[in-house]
Amino acid sequence: MSDVILEVDGLSVDIATARGPLHAVRDISFSVKRGETLCLVGESGCGKSMTSLAIMDLLPKAATRSARRIAFAGEDLGKAGRKRINALRGDRMAMIFQEPMTALNPAYTIGNQLVEVYRQHRNASEAEARDRAVYLLEKVGIASAAERLGQYPHQLSGGLRQRVMIAMALMCGPDLLIADEPTTALDVTIQAQILRLLADLQRELGIAMVLITHDLGIVARIADRVAVMYAGEIVEEGLASSLFTNPRHPYTRGLIDCIPVPGRTTPGGKLGVIPGVVPSLVGEIRGCSFRDRCSHSREVCSATVPVQSAINGQRWRCILENAA
Ligand SMILES: Nc1ncnc2c1ncn2[C@@H]1O[C@H](COP(=O)(O)OP(=O)(O)OP(=O)(O)O)[C@@H](O)[C@H]1O
Ligand code: SF4
Ligand SMILES: [Mg+2]
Repeated sequence: MSDVILEVDGLSVDIATARGPLHAVRDISFSVKRGETLCLVGESGCGKSMTSLAIMDLLPKAATRSARRIAFAGEDLGKAGRKRINALRGDRMAMIFQEPMTALNPAYTIGNQLVEVYRQHRNASEAEARDRAVYLLEKVGIASAAERLGQYPHQLSGGLRQRVMIAMALMCGPDLLIADEPTTALDVTIQAQILRLLADLQRELGIAMVLITHDLGIVARIADRVAVMYAGEIVEEGLASSLFTNPRHPYTRGLIDCIPVPGRTTPGGKLGVIPGVVPSLVGEIRGCSFRDRCSHSREVCSATVPVQSAINGQRWRCILENAA
């Protein structure tokens, strides 16, 4: 059995807009191994959510996906029918959204919803499904779990709802969990607790996780590998340890310079910002998409930019061999 759980090769997502097709994701490739945490990072609008929705086949109507291959545990999802995708989703591959109310139905108790997810995919009795729900609510740190089953989503705080959604994603014991900014709707102290919980559960249960987050501090703590997206492309990817100690792409360097580092960042001081804005994704981008913001930019950067790689598997799309 291959140890790769998710393989994405040449994924693009186009969105129809009044100004023409918006190329939200542009020919990206990456893979995730069983039990591994890949963090997908990059500033707002660079295509992280579209990437995760494309993998789960949950894109909005205006968006279309194309790919050479998207495979889950070796199975080509591009060739799988709707029925098969529905069977995999929520069972072996699950997703946690930024806003829990996207996934929770306000009209049903959380018990009903947890039980329903389990019984949809497993030939289990109501009692078995309820036991599993209580077990998972306890696992995500919810006290008096059995009583909570009878409550409706609006009766819970934002933090509790997010925990319920994590429990729901884990009900069937997935092999892959995609978490898209799972905490940004919560206040800062709760964010840290939930991310810690996710990281602990991921390790304990051996689930592969794709975590999308703006928080590079969290990435540094929990990622095995990191993919950095910019303007719909992956501009750098590699082991977290290599990427943080030796970032090669100027955009990655810019992002890392923005992380507060104990001893380096003055408390309350201003973090580094990368000047400029992301280019429009409507129409083609010729050459390096980062060149308007890059201090190393030169003439050759407006032609096709090569992908470079280092021995440890780190890959980056830039003319520079080492951006140091
Ligand atoms: N429904 C839509 N219609 C038109 N454009 C869209 C739509 N949804 C997303 N986009 C555009 O697609 C691009 C990628 O969006 P996406 O949501 O994947 O970004 P993101 O990296 O997840 O950003 P954020 O960090 O803000 O969540 C952006 O330019 C965005 O404006
Ligand atoms: S290819 Fe050129 S413009 Fe793009 S990041 Fe590298 S040096 Fe900068
Ligand atoms: Mg997003």
